[in-house]
Amino acid sequence: MNLLSAKNISHTFEYELFRDVSIELDEGDSIAIIGISGSGKSTLLHILSTLLTPDTGSVELFGKNVELMSKKELAKIKRDALGLVFQSHYLFRGFSARENLEVAAMLSKQEIDDEVLKRLSILENMEQKVTQLSGGQQQRVSIARVLTKKPRVLFLDEPTGNLDKTTANEVMDIFFDFIRDNNAAMILVTHDEELASRCRRVYRLQNKELIMVK
Ligand SMILES: Nc1ncnc2c1ncn2[C@@H]1O[C@H](COP(=O)(O)OP(=O)(O)O)[C@@H](O)[C@H]1O
Ligand SMILES: [Mg+2]
Repeated sequence: MNLLSAKNISHTFEYELFRDVSIELDEGDSIAIIGISGSGKSTLLHILSTLLTPDTGSVELFGKNVELMSKKELAKIKRDALGLVFQSHYLFRGFSARENLEVAAMLSKQEIDDEVLKRLSILENMEQKVTQLSGGQQQRVSIARVLTKKPRVLFLDEPTGNLDKTTANEVMDIFFDFIRDNNAAMILVTHDEELASRCRRVYRLQNKELIMVK
């Protein structure tokens, strides 16, 4: 089943970032997007995850053009079916790690999965306040929070940027297992070509074009 289909996307800020970008994401897919800093990777991910409307082109989620969705319909899809892990996470800082996950679990009517917390090595930190956690621990809590929703599409922007190489690979294992077990898919933005190569397909954003390199 097709989860996401983007056609002929173009976008310009101060200068044209990219044009005519098309991409398809099916169940079980993993796609990496690499490219130098400033090439527009994050902007493209914002467009694909409906946070930003492209200048031209269309994005379909689960077979429906997002521009034709009502605000309510789109909000529900964003809440239940899309999982966003960005460089700066948005944990509630006054809350404990567990309280942050409880909010996600409640909103999506899912359970917190202790197995995921164990694999992320944060089970022991769940009662600590966000501000008492290291940057890497905060990043892993934000990953656990996103996975708690059981989204169908994961949008990952440098999700392991704060982590050492071993931990980064372990976190990627968790993402790959997650999409396999939940008929989900992921789009990973990274500058790390080694991490990218673990994905089924790899694209490079270069000279305003998205080119398939694997
Ligand atoms: N909201 C915005 N308003 C204006 N310019 C932006 C905005 N977001 C990104 N840009 C510019 O677009 C270019 C690409 O940014 P970005 O998509 O973050 O690239 P990357 O993630 O590949 O480093 C940069 O020059 C950046 O300054
Ligand atoms: Mg970026």
